[in-house]
Amino acid sequence: MSSPPDPSPYFAALAQLRRDKTDVPPHIAVANHKGGIGKSFLTQAIAVAAAETGHYVLVIDMDAQGNVTRRLRAQLPAAPEQRAAASLAAVLPNPGRGDAARILTPCGYGGIYTERIMVAPADLDLELLALTAGQPAAERRLLRALTGVVAPFDLVLIDCPPSLLSHQIDLAWTASDYVLMPCEAEFDAVQSARRIRERIERDSHKLNEDLRIAGIIVNRYRNLAVHKNRAEEMEKISGPGGVCPVRIPELTSLKDMSENARPIAENGSQGRDMAALFRDVYTWTRTRISELEKAA
Ligand SMILES: Nc1ncnc2c1ncn2[C@@H]1O[C@H](COP(=O)(O)OP(=O)(O)OP(=O)(O)O)[C@@H](O)[C@H]1O
Ligand SMILES: [Mg+2]
Repeated sequence: MSSPPDPSPYFAALAQLRRDKTDVPPHIAVANHKGGIGKSFLTQAIAVAAAETGHYVLVIDMDAQGNVTRRLRAQLPAAPEQRAAASLAAVLPNPGRGDAARILTPCGYGGIYTERIMVAPADLDLELLALTAGQPAAERRLLRALTGVVAPFDLVLIDCPPSLLSHQIDLAWTASDYVLMPCEAEFDAVQSARRIRERIERDSHKLNEDLRIAGIIVNRYRNLAVHKNRAEEMEKISGPGGVCPVRIPELTSLKDMSENARPIAENGSQGRDMAALFRDVYTWTRTRISELEKAA
């Protein structure tokens, strides 16, 4: 049985490499109330795109399904009790400042991806955190665990579960600056995105007053009149200019990216085109965040 690699030498080397970087990177929660809409898909794709752009990315898997953990090939031991011990489930019940550092695991793709993407992996036991949600300041536990850990990175991405009022969402949003929503151009998905916005408006004073919607990324887009109309409705949720003009189509090669847990660029010429598309999505997201920062 293989143990996960010890991330501390890697992390020390990364910190050394980036030692001049003192600012805290944007923390982006990838969320939508609706399941199966592409949250983990977008988290994987943006992490990969950021790495290809030369950025260092920390991916926090806040979904007990652990999909983005698997899709980024972050290694966890096979035995259930050891898996939990090597994941966020072991850190978050009672974290000290910066405790997330001890479970960080590099992306397993090799090359620039392993060099530039680190994962805070999830395991099924993450569900059990809800049992201690009533403790004082429980929703700040992820933020506390990340303190000081994030400085070497250019971006922190938090993959959220398909829920709205869960403790995992509270943890993710308390630690985030922005929420980025993947959304399909169909009624139920748009309603789910609207509920995300409404919850931010209603509860940010309790969770995180600085939390803002970065924008919406339209997924599985087709050039149909109904899809165009729904995309226009999304702008009412995200605010003017808040819908990424780069639309993501539904393609088998994109499905393969998550099924086979590989970077999309490695999937032939269509894969390379899609990798370029996701780099455009990433550039748009960074530009949008800069504009929101300036406007604040
Ligand atoms: N544009 C796309 N083209 C092809 N397949 C896609 C596309 N977007 C998402 N998928 C596939 O749809 C499935 C669901 O996506 P994903 O797991 O990312 O959704 P999710 O919102 O994270 O789900 P959950 O709510 O369960 O966390 C995955 O198999 C993913 O590969
Ligand atoms: Mg998911």
